[in-house]
Amino acid sequence: MCGIMAYVGEQECAEILLEGLQKLEYRGYDSAGVAIWDGQRIELRRCEGKLVNLRRSVAAEPILGSLGIGHTRWATHGRPSEQNAHPHTWGGISLVHNGIIENYVALKQELSARGHDFSSETDTEIAAHLIGASVQSGHDLHTAVRLATKRMEGSYALVVISEDEPDRIVAARQQSPLVVAIGNGETFAASDIPAILAHTRDVIFLEDGETAVLTAQSVQLFDADGLAFERPTKHVLWDPISAEKQGFKHFMLKEIFEQPDKLVDTLRGRISLDRGDIALDGAEPPKAILDALKRVVLVACGTSYHAALVGKTLIEQLARIPVEVDLASEFRYRDPLIGAGDLFVPISQSGETADTLAALKMAHSRGAHVLAVCNVVDSSIPRISDGTLYTHAGPEIGVASTKAFTTQLASMMLLAVYLGRRKGTLDPARARMLLEDLRTIPTQIEKLLEASDAVREIAKHFIHARSFLYLGRGVNYPIALEGALKLKEISYIHAEGYAAGEMKHGPIALIDENMPVVVIAPKSETYEKVFSNLEEVRARGGKVLAVATEGDLKIARFADHVMTIPAAPDYLQPLLTIIPLQLLAYHIADMKGTDIDQPRNLAKSVTVE
Ligand code: AGP
Repeated sequence: MCGIMAYVGEQECAEILLEGLQKLEYRGYDSAGVAIWDGQRIELRRCEGKLVNLRRSVAAEPILGSLGIGHTRWATHGRPSEQNAHPHTWGGISLVHNGIIENYVALKQELSARGHDFSSETDTEIAAHLIGASVQSGHDLHTAVRLATKRMEGSYALVVISEDEPDRIVAARQQSPLVVAIGNGETFAASDIPAILAHTRDVIFLEDGETAVLTAQSVQLFDADGLAFERPTKHVLWDPISAEKQGFKHFMLKEIFEQPDKLVDTLRGRISLDRGDIALDGAEPPKAILDALKRVVLVACGTSYHAALVGKTLIEQLARIPVEVDLASEFRYRDPLIGAGDLFVPISQSGETADTLAALKMAHSRGAHVLAVCNVVDSSIPRISDGTLYTHAGPEIGVASTKAFTTQLASMMLLAVYLGRRKGTLDPARARMLLEDLRTIPTQIEKLLEASDAVREIAKHFIHARSFLYLGRGVNYPIALEGALKLKEISYIHAEGYAAGEMKHGPIALIDENMPVVVIAPKSETYEKVFSNLEEVRARGGKVLAVATEGDLKIARFADHVMTIPAAPDYLQPLLTIIPLQLLAYHIADMKGTDIDQPRNLAKSVTVE
């Protein structure tokens, strides 16, 4: 996710901006820039890559001034490059933006028709043109920002300065965090608390639809209707490290709690309920490819492979196209049958996983069309794919994947509905129903996360366990695999995921009173069958932790502990059943005191074989 830092006061601000941005480095970024009023004009400096590049540039040619904005960009629209880096300027204004302007294509066409030329591939530049044009037509900066944001759909934290009013910063927020902070004769705006902690602890969090005008001496707040109002400052007590984690003890926990917001980002702008259809942001395969499509091949590693397994069921059920799933490390060495007529879908959070990349190259060279599902924009996998469906999870810092997984699951659902509509296996009405259900998931996850403390209570019973078995069926079988992977990665407790129907074919021999068994058994087509597994475990003295549907009284009689999810159609259950399992793994590991964000022997991105 991108970082914002802005300053107005009496001090030279270049270093203040750079230091503030540095405090946001943990969020990940691929380019950076500042824009500073130097007394004559706004001077812009942007660099691809790490902040050190920008720092070098500013050191070589200093920019003097006491009003400025800075940004670290994590690419969402357009590759990481100097031109795509923020700030963006037009018509005497300069701005930085976090978020996604969903209707930027339509706005860009409208502005182009009015003679605007664009120098970047970003959605953000559209905001600069809208606001700059409004200022040129005679509006003051605050009015111009308010008018422009009324035309923008999507999410934004915007911070803007103007050569016409070089004593102020205008800030606006819609679904992307933004905080203003008040110092002694200076004020700040930032996307996150750590950026400003070195200067002041008195902050005001902006809410959706609100704007703020900052000068060295004052902060004025305005509601969505443009009416001025007051809100008392909050005094932040966080230490800098916990501020980076926004008060969470670990990045992993923060990322678990970010899932509702990140899923909204994944779905944003892609669902048309009117048409009962999906847009893939320009990653749609050409019609000729879709007409000739015979098979989908999903290939990935680790957690992303588990998302692929869920994707297989969704695509086969909704689009009735045969789907093969493979581990990238196996696929690349088995001389696979792949070529024209195949849609090859590599799934990767990082976009850099060596095996997935190699499998992709092989599939491509043999004539398959490649549609990647990836989180990191312009990483190696998207760069050599024919198209990419970005998951928009934002940077994932915890080594154990959480929000990257659920956004991959949502992307699988989008892809399944998209293919179903193209193949005619889904009519608009049924697609609309599926998508309406999908859109309720973020809110349902929010409610599930409220049970975190209750899951911790359950976790207390299992911190000394040596080995766990996870069982699930159908779409919840991959969740058994993923739940087990989460636990072993961060708690170092051995855990195995199994298809519940396989239990009798071997793992049942392991079950005794020392073996906790996590049974994923929400109400579904296969509920009764999983239930019989549960009885078999109980009969052998195994401790049962069930993930079940709210109100399921029957399961409560057989399980030692129950973690509930709301009732949901089968195809959406993985997005819910995984949440208590992430929390269970996290709390067990936390109580064991392991290094949760950087577990031993593991790397976030596996760029070697
Ligand atoms: C999961 O918690 C791990 N971080 C790991 O299994 C990961 O999913 C795997 O290495 C694949 O990474 P990718 O999605 O970046 O390709």
